[in-house]
Amino acid sequence: MAGKPQNDNHNADDALADTPALSYRVVTRDQEKQDALHLVADSIAQQRQTASAAIIFNPLCIAGLFAMCAGAYHQYQHAGLGTLMTMICGSIILYLSFVRFYTSGYIQRAEEFKWKDFITGPDGKQDTVIAAVYGDNIIGTVVLRLEGEEINKKKKDAVQPSTVGRGIIRAWTTKMRYRGKGIGSDLLHYAVQTTARAFGPTASVEFDPDHPNSKHPIPDMFLRTFKKRQQRADKALRQALNHQGKPR
Ligand SMILES: CC(C)(COP(=O)(O)OP(=O)(O)OC[C@H]1O[C@@H](n2cnc3c(N)ncnc32)[C@H](O)[C@@H]1OP(=O)(O)O)[C@@H](O)C(=O)NCCC(=O)NCCS
Repeated sequence: MAGKPQNDNHNADDALADTPALSYRVVTRDQEKQDALHLVADSIAQQRQTASAAIIFNPLCIAGLFAMCAGAYHQYQHAGLGTLMTMICGSIILYLSFVRFYTSGYIQRAEEFKWKDFITGPDGKQDTVIAAVYGDNIIGTVVLRLEGEEINKKKKDAVQPSTVGRGIIRAWTTKMRYRGKGIGSDLLHYAVQTTARAFGPTASVEFDPDHPNSKHPIPDMFLRTFKKRQQRADKALRQALNHQGKPR
């Protein structure tokens, strides 16, 4: 009887040993940076789905679709059921193709995204790339630009923490299938910690208003979901700052 719990413990230990470790660190090798920034490019392309849904279900666009279908009905109501159904389905296909074409700008932007140019500042210095690493895979990233004179790089007599230094989050992404599990939040906490280490605990951290997920090739009227996401992101960053970068 006493042997069974021991077996269970062994099984549990084995299962844990097989689980890859999740860690957060600043990546320094070019290949790792490229992998991390690949996630950012992917996230730009993924925005197409959200944009398409926003257009497809927009009341004005739906009204347009109904008008097209009504026009097809009016025109072909006496031409037989087959013709009528073909014309109505054709209208729907046309509508969806238009949306697909209209949102293709996201794919183009993702393809044009050059990771090295993106992380290289005007002074030639590269941004800090923080990655969530699960086993051997990079599954999330924050690109952080540290603007100002860092404490440890100042001369010895300058002991005051920098009041002008700030951290700018230029990109923040988690791989699709790992979203909603707290990885993005941990990355923000890590970014806050990294900024505090560079400039002192009072340094500010903010999102770059021109981050890659903020640019949209579609009109403002379809951006409600994206604006809500930005508000959630701002809230998550405020929380990380309130916790001073220590995940709860
Ligand atoms: C934003 C993103 C990085 C969040 O990563 P995640 O691992 O899912 O985040 P977490 O599970 O740790 O959630 C932390 C907080 O992030 C915020 N958040 C979640 N999804 C979000 C989204 N799509 N956009 C903005 N903020 C989001 C929420 O405030 C959440 O806290 P809550 O659950 O209490 O509401 C991820 O959804 C993503 O990669 N999105 C695509 C890229 C993008 O839009 N980046 C934002 C640029 S500002």
